Amino acid sequence: MATLAVYPGSFDPLTNGHVDIISRGARLFDRIVVAILVNAEKAPLFSMAERVEIARAVFKNHSNVEVDTFDGLLVDYVERKRAQAIVRGLRAVSDFEFEFQMALMNQRLKPQIETVFMMPAEQYTFISSTLIREIAIHGGNAGEFVDPIVATELRKKRKD
Ligand code: PNS
Repeated sequence: MATLAVYPGSFDPLTNGHVDIISRGARLFDRIVVAILVNAEKAPLFSMAERVEIARAVFKNHSNVEVDTFDGLLVDYVERKRAQAIVRGLRAVSDFEFEFQMALMNQRLKPQIETVFMMPAEQYTFISSTLIREIAIHGGNAGEFVDPIVATELRKKRKD
């Protein structure tokens, strides 16, 4: 049976840390779906359509990476996709508490779905979408932390 994993998140925006985790997931599973949560933030920097377009552009040469959106409970989406696992990245101990809670709740809701945690490469452990958004809004250069496609889109979001 082919293995399928779902990598859920807000991806506002997609960072090099996300890209690292997706690439690891794509090596571990036959297919991985990057599942972008609809309406995660009240005022997102990037619209849903922009986030989907960016992720598809970044992974256009990866045939086993798909990009999709989801609404509602993650475990219901994972079940609909007939995926076996949820992939989440762990950067630091500070991520652990919330991730642990969420993984156990998802496990209680649908015991057959596993959550698999992966650590990004060390150089990505301090990167977060929140910090990238702040840098971009205030005119800083976040190019080092994101794919060039994301960097181009971030420059368009500057507050002048
Ligand atoms: O990128 P994020 O914001 O850390 O991703 C959080 C996400 C999307 C994984 C989480 O908020 C989520 O799964 N939301 C969908 C609703 C749901 O299932 N919540 C968890 C119940 S335990």
